[in-house]
Amino acid sequence: MMTDKLAQPLAWTEWSSDAATKALLDDLQANILKGHGRDHTANLFLAFDGYDPDAARLALAGLAAAMPSALDQLVDAQAFKATGAPGRGVLCFVLTAAGYAALGLDAAMPAGAAFRAGMKASGGKLADPASGGWDTPFDGTVHAMLLIADTTPEKVDAAAGRWTGLLGFGGVRVLGMERGRALRREVAGERVGIENFGYVDGRSQPLFLAEDVAEEPKANWNPAFPPRQFLVPDPGGQGSESFGSYFVFRKLEQNVKGFKDREEDLADALGLAGDDRERAGALVVGRFEDGTPVVAAGDPQNQPPPNDFGFDADPDGKLCPFRAHIRKTNPRGDTERRFGAPLADERGHIMARRGITYGEREQDPATGEPTDRPTGGVGLLFMAYMADVENQFEFTQAAWANNPNFVAEGLGIDPVIGQGTNPFATPWRDERSGGETADFDFSGFVTLKGGEYFFAPSLGFLRNLA
Ligand code: HEM
Repeated sequence: MMTDKLAQPLAWTEWSSDAATKALLDDLQANILKGHGRDHTANLFLAFDGYDPDAARLALAGLAAAMPSALDQLVDAQAFKATGAPGRGVLCFVLTAAGYAALGLDAAMPAGAAFRAGMKASGGKLADPASGGWDTPFDGTVHAMLLIADTTPEKVDAAAGRWTGLLGFGGVRVLGMERGRALRREVAGERVGIENFGYVDGRSQPLFLAEDVAEEPKANWNPAFPPRQFLVPDPGGQGSESFGSYFVFRKLEQNVKGFKDREEDLADALGLAGDDRERAGALVVGRFEDGTPVVAAGDPQNQPPPNDFGFDADPDGKLCPFRAHIRKTNPRGDTERRFGAPLADERGHIMARRGITYGEREQDPATGEPTDRPTGGVGLLFMAYMADVENQFEFTQAAWANNPNFVAEGLGIDPVIGQGTNPFATPWRDERSGGETADFDFSGFVTLKGGEYFFAPSLGFLRNLA
């Protein structure tokens, strides 16, 4: 059965000879198994309230007919690699629990408790800012989200206009839109994706396609994950090969000036001079801006950012602090080394991150390096797919990033995304220079502006709504 296949990375190219693989990929939305890779996006947040649910369901079935499947996306990506032809745009559609209810589809609603309660209900657990102060429409009720991704802003605008109109005929109202624009800068001759603080982002991903796993070196870190960590049977699906995925959206604003100034303060406090000053930020993130892991090198290597690294040679968090963002959110075996916890449990918290940056930045045209330092209006549209919101996103945010005692007593919270107060005086130390600080708080530069929990249903479910 297909579900057995989900225990190990899926060989998607076998679709032409394997009917079950084809059935699964035909029925699954794009962007889950692999990121869409487009630099321009629009997230349309939708409501069905006050209208005829039959008309709304019909409009959604029309949308579903135009949505590429996972197989379409993978075939397009393969063609792009071979010929450079960009392929069609990507459309993804996700529903909240309130959205299922508004459509009269309670029987098809996925069972996840956090999903059903919505993100606002988890605010206390996540130490989120009060939802009353969130941006519109997240402060109210959102029923669904349509993600449009394409190669140019013009194509995205055209699709957003078209779908706003077509869904409007069914009484589906657009409550708000978030535009995403990938930031890229040059590293080792390639334009790689960065986030607004200037660091290469999106490099470390769980891989659940056998073809992707085969391309990655894996001497120190195994990037292969079972697809069932990201896919669940769709309760509204049309067959045994119908899968969906829980989807977390968070609009995270970044205070770039605040963060970059604090990096300078940290470099001063550690007594770092010249090129070594770059290491202050690398201790905070766990990688240099160019993606070089700080556990592996004391300065940026200007190489294609590696992901085949672990922390075996740094069991005490001397080279890469335990509280560095990438070590808090993926400890790569710290829980096994320190408490003998099964590695599989730790790896079970990993999600498939599919975020994109938002906001306008000034960039050096030659290198793509951002040259301004905004205090707001820019950030990350954090998006991630997973099989279990509680055990993956919520666990990572609450039990790791926000937990000042993870992975050791008194460490402090994640300096990038940690929320809540940090009760400890947290000194920083740079092993390579011997530089040390006294208590030095590094936090508060990322602010949640709103978000929601969604489910990405199977295409068969959506097409069958008509
Ligand atoms: C504005 C907010 C954020 C910024 C600026 C940020 C930045 C980064 C950067 C620069 C990396 C390193 C690149 C890579 O390894 O792919 C990274 C990795 C990662 N981030 Fe974030 N991130 C943010 C939000 C989040 C959130 C909300 C979560 C989850 C709750 C998260 C989880 C992760 C994970 C799991 C990794 C990969 C770690 C690894 O496998 O080594 N990030 N992030």
